[in-house]
Amino acid sequence: METPGKEEISVEDEAVDKTIFKDCSNITFYRRQKQQLSKNNTYRALLDTVTTGEDSTKFQIINEVTKIPLLAEVYGVERNIFRLKINEKTPLKPRYEVPDVINKLNTVRLISCSGDTGSLILAGGERDLKCHIIANPFKIELISEEEVVISINSLSQLYFEHLQIPHKHRATTEKEERVSAGASQESQEDLGLWEEKFGNFVDIKANGPTSIGLDFSLHGFEHLYGIPQHAESHRLKNTKDGDAYRLYNLDIYGYQIYSKTGIYGSVPYLLAHKLGRTIGIFWLNASETLVEVNTEPAVEYTFTQMGPTAAKQKVRPRTDVCWMSESGIIDVFLLTGPTPSDVFKQYSYLTGTQAMPPLFSLGYHQCRWNYEDEQDVKAVDAGFDEHDIPYDVMWLDIEHTEGKRYFIWDKKRFPNPKRMQELLRNKKRKLVVISDPHIKVDPDYSVYAKAKEQGFFVKNPEGGDFEGICWPGLSSYLDFTNPKVREWYSGLFAFSAYQESTDILFIWNDMNEPSVFKGPELTMQKNAIHHGGWEHRELHNTYGFYQQMATAEGLTQRSEGKERPFVLSRSFFSGSQKYGAVWTGDNMAEWSYLKISLPMLLTLSITGISFCGADVGGFIGNPEAELLVRWYQAGAYQPFFRGHATMNTKRREPWLLGEEHTRFIREAIRERYTLLPYLYSLFYCAHVASEPVMRPLWVEFPDELEAFDVEDEYMLGNALLVHPVTEPRTTMIDVFLPGPNETWYDSKTFAHWKGGCTVKIPVALETIPVFQRGGSVVPVKTTAGKSTGWMANSPFGLRVALSTKGSAMGELYLDDGHSFQYLHQKQFLHRKFSFCSSVLTNRCADEKGHYPSKCVVEQILVLGFRKKPTSVITHSSDGKDQPVAFTYCARTCALSLERLSLDVDADWEVHVR
Ligand code: GLC
Repeated sequence: METPGKEEISVEDEAVDKTIFKDCSNITFYRRQKQQLSKNNTYRALLDTVTTGEDSTKFQIINEVTKIPLLAEVYGVERNIFRLKINEKTPLKPRYEVPDVINKLNTVRLISCSGDTGSLILAGGERDLKCHIIANPFKIELISEEEVVISINSLSQLYFEHLQIPHKHRATTEKEERVSAGASQESQEDLGLWEEKFGNFVDIKANGPTSIGLDFSLHGFEHLYGIPQHAESHRLKNTKDGDAYRLYNLDIYGYQIYSKTGIYGSVPYLLAHKLGRTIGIFWLNASETLVEVNTEPAVEYTFTQMGPTAAKQKVRPRTDVCWMSESGIIDVFLLTGPTPSDVFKQYSYLTGTQAMPPLFSLGYHQCRWNYEDEQDVKAVDAGFDEHDIPYDVMWLDIEHTEGKRYFIWDKKRFPNPKRMQELLRNKKRKLVVISDPHIKVDPDYSVYAKAKEQGFFVKNPEGGDFEGICWPGLSSYLDFTNPKVREWYSGLFAFSAYQESTDILFIWNDMNEPSVFKGPELTMQKNAIHHGGWEHRELHNTYGFYQQMATAEGLTQRSEGKERPFVLSRSFFSGSQKYGAVWTGDNMAEWSYLKISLPMLLTLSITGISFCGADVGGFIGNPEAELLVRWYQAGAYQPFFRGHATMNTKRREPWLLGEEHTRFIREAIRERYTLLPYLYSLFYCAHVASEPVMRPLWVEFPDELEAFDVEDEYMLGNALLVHPVTEPRTTMIDVFLPGPNETWYDSKTFAHWKGGCTVKIPVALETIPVFQRGGSVVPVKTTAGKSTGWMANSPFGLRVALSTKGSAMGELYLDDGHSFQYLHQKQFLHRKFSFCSSVLTNRCADEKGHYPSKCVVEQILVLGFRKKPTSVITHSSDGKDQPVAFTYCARTCALSLERLSLDVDADWEVHVR
């Protein structure tokens, strides 16, 4: 049976269209909050109810009108984090609190200090941090070093809809009901209290209105970032009424750019940065969420009537942020920094760090919807070798399955999947296949039959299995929020269960927002029921997170915990970084989408998700050759690097667009492969030290105002500045080189500049503008191989770029690239290279690790070496000295040592005289 494709739906119903997707004006909890907040909405804290326990300090707050009490809890969390929870004091039944996202936390006992009668001061943490609770009107101020950093509810936007007795059983009159929801002027239906209409869809709300909201004023801050996923600028913009950032995971084919609408994934976490301080706000809520942002810039007042001399007063800028969610409780973490890297560590303490990816997954991935059959796979694979282009992973989309029954091969197209995997294995390559969360309704399909029998599907409100349309036609959706379902699903990836799968097969989870073609906004109705009786509305944004969790667990288990998984997911939530990679979904083959991929990936990166990428070439449409080249060049310097294209697009494997373009794409991919030692080391750093792999300039240059808005270039680690070309027919670009005390080197021409300026760089189609920061050492491989597997023992090179002081530092992390031995047996190598006083040393950076390597350092390039040396001598740890040949270019100040043979895992020195 032919099933509806998304294209059909989007063409017929116009995908990015108000009739399919809501804007804020269609979201009733938003309208309710707006109306209520324009009225008097005062809360008072009852400080005589304060109790201080081991973990938290609790007190009640009441709404001055309704007099219904709320319970507030303030926790001090290790690493200078505060947590504030606000719930109903006595809800009719429990409200949803997001499970499974937050790590086990150590709390810090808060000490209450003096405070006058109308306030309470709580102190805790290592630094001078205080939480000042003001009773009337209720407000909390977070104070650091005597300065108010954040105030909470200073705009009185605390909003809390209490659970009520369900409509039909209630004794109260309709009027009372409207008053309690703050809606006396509006009709009940318009405000969607118990029922909400959108197009032909009606959302029946068994629990009635349950929305919550709270405001935060960030003092001195004008620069905010985060809350992915939106196809928007890196820096958050001011929102207007009705144009808030929406966090609601949706499948929007060819999403609009520069829009605040929610797409595929949500991380309800933002960072704010100003000179001297970075902070974070993490709003732990998995229901539909809206975020308003409003910056009041700094103003300078001059008072002339205050005496003989005019007085000047400067009012600091301030940004107000209002979070609003449809459901759940208020549970918010304040990350107090003060540096960007402190905030990264605080956030990963809460939600985990980036999983250490298997090395192959940092290579290039070749995908298409679809590679037709085994022959096609074979031919494409051979094409890479023929054209001398490295790649690591072949991908199979939904057509590899029998009628979109995941885990079952279409034997007409793929008669011998094992044979195909053996072919790839012999080439030291891998296979990724797709596995979506919708399961075809078909009693003869064992996955369906078993899930049905065990009650593993999401339910409809009537108690039957929820059924919706997706790729296979009528489908049910696995309830991944249920631990038993996850356990069972993980088991489907066992070699014994997944017929003809081998250990080179890895997984792609798609459509897991979840996408439901004929559902409201192409997703699941909010009153579908999950494990524990929870409505889908409570946890919508975590559905994909749970699928990726279960899949990663399955891949780990199939190797008895020995091998690292690789799972790509389209949908995600806070903490998804623990389970693999994400990408930016169905983008278009247009220059503007290439351009916006940078801020989109930067935003993901600073919110914990380092392993991210965008479909290279653009998924929808046919890129012109120039765009395709530029996209490969950009992708080569982004964490997840995959070419992908939808059905009905022209084939565009890297060698199909003419010899010249093939050459440029080849060069870009090969450059990626030579850079892998650096990239892999950066992933290790993300994994153990929470540093993002791809970094906006403000993260590396937090004291440089000019860097705060930059989104057309970024740092890869702390050493490379990348400025991809994202405009057609570019011959010159402006590159901002930050840091007045920095030196920057063009990685190809070796030309150098002092930082703190914008330089004009001529570019040809083969140019990828990449600059190495003076003071850094970048470990590379001297040549690219057919795949990462072929490069395991190939020699290293070191690219040393000297600072103005003539020194440089860098690190290399190395392990077997695929197992967990680095963790359990400490089988890794972590080396530190430093160049100081004309001596380059290789030393151990972590004595705990051991990993014998056969690799040698073969080349060393020193940039910025001012005078021609008279000799260069290597000095090994056994005391042997050996002169080595060198070349020196006086024009570029580049010193080059070739044909060395220095063990990468041993201590040695190179003396330049
Ligand atoms: C979705 C994915 C896309 C995939 C297609 C078919 O549109 O975003 O990457 O190719 O589904 O599975």
